[in-house]
Amino acid sequence: MKLFIDTADLADIETIAGWGVLQGVTTNPTLLGKVEGEADDIYRRVCELVDGPVSAEVVADARGDMIEEGKRLAAIHENIVVKLPMSAEGLSATSTLAAEGIRVNMTLVFTPPQALLAAASGAAFVSPFVGRFDDIGHDGLECLRTIVEALEPSMYDTEVITASVRGPLHVTEAARMGAHIATIPPKVFYQMLQHPLTAAGIETFTADAEARKARAAK
Ligand code: E4P
Repeated sequence: MKLFIDTADLADIETIAGWGVLQGVTTNPTLLGKVEGEADDIYRRVCELVDGPVSAEVVADARGDMIEEGKRLAAIHENIVVKLPMSAEGLSATSTLAAEGIRVNMTLVFTPPQALLAAASGAAFVSPFVGRFDDIGHDGLECLRTIVEALEPSMYDTEVITASVRGPLHVTEAARMGAHIATIPPKVFYQMLQHPLTAAGIETFTADAEARKARAAK
């Protein structure tokens, strides 16, 4: 499973890209609202930091405006993927953009039928929101599993992006069920990295190496 980062924070992207684990980036208007700077400049810098798909979300809600905004975003960099919301207008705009070779990430997907519609419209990526589905008392991971299973035998090449990830367990389970991608907030990357026994082990090995060096120096 490929790992994307779900943020518009350039410092976080640069740091975690430095781990060598990132294959893409997703942003949304809320994430962009948390950082300073012009959106287009941020997208350009993100594309310099990570060599992979970078989702930039359209805010227009009418088909024609979505297409226009999507084309403008796609022109920023060849790695930009246009993010469109799941809706009749979004599906229609996706089919037009896809026919022109522009990749679309269909976002705010909560059911397998929505995912099938996204795939049929030509979306390159579909983003089921696991955490937000959990928040309203549903089983986000089970929904993700059904979407992965439903799209797997289909004739579409649509990749499933596990979105709205809230913790390392979401990532592990998404990988186990065969999701193509998980887009992960920076905080969750750090949770994935750390374990108290790893930290304790490093401390012990360092102390033992120092002790050996001290004995040899006597
Ligand atoms: C996906 O592309 C979205 O940006 C994101 O995963 C939304 O998740 P949230 O529930 O953390 O806002």
